[in-house]
Formats: sequence, structure tokens, C-alpha cells
Amino acid sequence: MRALVLAGGSGSRLRPITHTSAKQLVPVANKPVLFYGLEAIRDAGIVEVGIVVGDTAPEIRRAVGDGSAFGLKVTYIPQDAPRGLAHAVLIAREFLGDDDFVMYLGDNFVVGGISDLVARFRQERPDAQIMLTRVSDPRAFGVAELGVDGRVVGLEEKPERPKSDLALVGVYLFSPAVHKAVAGLTPSRRDELEITDAIQALIDGGRRVESTVISGYWKDTGNVTDMLEVNRLVLESVEPSVKGEVDEASELIGRVVVEPGVTVSRSRVVGPVVIGAGSVVRDSYVGPFTSIDRDCTVADSEIEYSIVLRGASIDGVGRIECSLIGREARVTPAPRVPRAHRLVLGDHSTVQISR
Ligand code: DAU
Repeated sequence: MRALVLAGGSGSRLRPITHTSAKQLVPVANKPVLFYGLEAIRDAGIVEVGIVVGDTAPEIRRAVGDGSAFGLKVTYIPQDAPRGLAHAVLIAREFLGDDDFVMYLGDNFVVGGISDLVARFRQERPDAQIMLTRVSDPRAFGVAELGVDGRVVGLEEKPERPKSDLALVGVYLFSPAVHKAVAGLTPSRRDELEITDAIQALIDGGRRVESTVISGYWKDTGNVTDMLEVNRLVLESVEPSVKGEVDEASELIGRVVVEPGVTVSRSRVVGPVVIGAGSVVRDSYVGPFTSIDRDCTVADSEIEYSIVLRGASIDGVGRIECSLIGREARVTPAPRVPRAHRLVLGDHSTVQISR
């Protein structure tokens, strides 16, 4: 069995963070979201992985390399533009050969991994197996309609009037029968080759399509609220470890990871929290569910339930909550006079200012 991981696409929803970087590399608890997927694939006993890459290919290649760090063998499959999930299967035809495969969307986070799902597929060998989860607004997803016997009878991509609240999770298992279905597709109204159409073609052709409804937690990490939630969830199970320096005037409470080269001084850190290598926390409070990436500074400030990306600095600004701070960003106080906000915001930034 092989895996096809989709790490192309444009990532418009996480702008401005993903203007300059791949959305699959946005860190959750200081580790790129894509790495959790690769680990889940490895844990399911799969070694051969094809990664579909687009504009951000150099970055993905730099992060994942040949896959040996994960115990995987990685083949990169370039895609000229995000032409759809089924297009990714089409261009991976040679890599996939006639093996069964799992298709994994590189920006998805599946709690508990995929080992059980893969084991069930291997045992039952349907032509396709999909994972579903109940969501409050299914219009942002592929949506499945189940028959009375629980079989999948219909699928629709981002429907205006969803027929159920069962959304497709970004993990799909296929037998080679999917290739014929993919080869027969024409572009949808959003001009993509839709994997939902390919699965629908399998159903219409009398092939067996199974589904599992998962109640466990998962998120498509396409927006900031979801990112913060996934981050919270992963942090809840980090193992505390202190490899950096923490002075006597500081206090660490609960699950706190302090990586090598970090200095924490005159500060209070209430876990779960991770502080990445080389960062400085000084005269500050770092509250639960906060990830501070490498080489950041948090000084004379308070921060909670937030993600701070590599090299950012927060200095003398009071309290920050529910925030995603981009790489190398600077957050500083304004001069006392005039009492005004001074902003240098990237394209598509969001800022909320308390009055
Ligand atoms: O997250 C679950 C949802 O993922 C499903 O419910 C939908 O049925 C499915 O279409 C997909 O919807 P998204 O709008 O979330 O897909 P997105 O464009 O974000 O792409 C998902 C991943 O696949 C992302 O890592 C980018 C990558 N991708 C996407 C396209 C369209 C590619 O590598 N190539 C592509 O052509």
C-alpha cells in the first residue's frame, strides 16, 4: 500500500501567514501540521509516499527531504496548478501503479492517526473508504449522503444546500479502481477535477464505497480559529521537558516544554505551553495553550491561547490572546503621545484593537 499526500494548493484562507509559506508547514505545537500526517502514515505501516507539490515545492522539500527522518521513502510529484484533488491522483498515476493507496490532505489533522482506518480497509477491501464527521456548516466541505443501510449514496463538493451534516475528512482510501473513475472526469463548476465526482462515479458504477463516521476530533487547518484549536489539542498531551535555562525568579506550572537554548527569566509560564529553541521569555506571563516557535522574544508582556511563529518578537504590549503572530513579526508599544495605533499590516491581515 502507498500514500499520496497533497501539499500543493494556495492556502488563501490562512493569509497573510501563507502568502509566503506553505499552509501545510504552519506549525502546531511547534511542528508543521504536515509532519503529523506523515507520522500517521508511517504508523499505519506505509513506507512509499508520493507528495504532490505546487508553488511552495522548495519549502516542502526542504522540510521533508527524502522522508528518511520519518522512516518513509518520499517521491515528489509536481503539480503545475491546484487543479483539484482528483487531478493530483491523475498525475500520480505512475507513482501509484496498481497498488491500493491512502490519499491524505496535507493540511488536515486527524486525531488518533489513521492506523485503524487503514487496517479496516486492508481487511475489507472496498473500492473506496472515506471518513466523515459531523460539522455545523457543511457548505465548506465535501458532503456525503448515506442510505438507510449506512452506505454512501451520494457526494457533493461544497454544496449550497447540503443534504446532510456529514463532511468528508481529508483522508481517503482507494483501490486502483479509482483511476478509471478519475480518467473519466471533466472539470467542475469551480474548474477542478473533484475527488467527490470520482467517488460518485464509483458508486454509480456499482462499486463498493464504505464510510466511517468519526466522532473524534479533527480539523481542516484552513483558518486561524481551527489552527488555535488544533494547537490546543496537541499541547494537551505534550510531555513536559525543560532543556533550556529557567531562572529562580520564574515559575513553570503544568505541561511546559522549554527547548534547548531558551532563557526564561522573571516570568510565569502556565502550561500546556511549548517554547522553541533559542527563544527568550522575560518579565512575562505565558498562559495555557500557547506555542512559541524558535528564536522568538516575549518580553514585558502577557500571552495566552496563541501561536507565535519563528523569530517574532512581542515586547511591552500588555496582554495578547487568541492570536497567530507571523514569522519575524514585531509587536511593540506605541509612543504615549499621540495616542494612536501605528500599524504595518501585511496584505489580508486581521487586527482587533481594544478601545
Ligand atoms: O479538509 C477536508 C476537505 O478537503 C473535504 O471536505 C473536501 O471535500 C475537499 O475538497 C477538501 O476541501 P478543501 O477546500 O479544504 O481543499 P483545499 O483546496 O484546501 O486542498 C486540500 C489540500 O490539498 C491542501 O493541502 C492543498 C492540497 N491540494 C489541493 C488542490 C485543490 C493540492 O495539493 N492540489 C490541488 O489541486
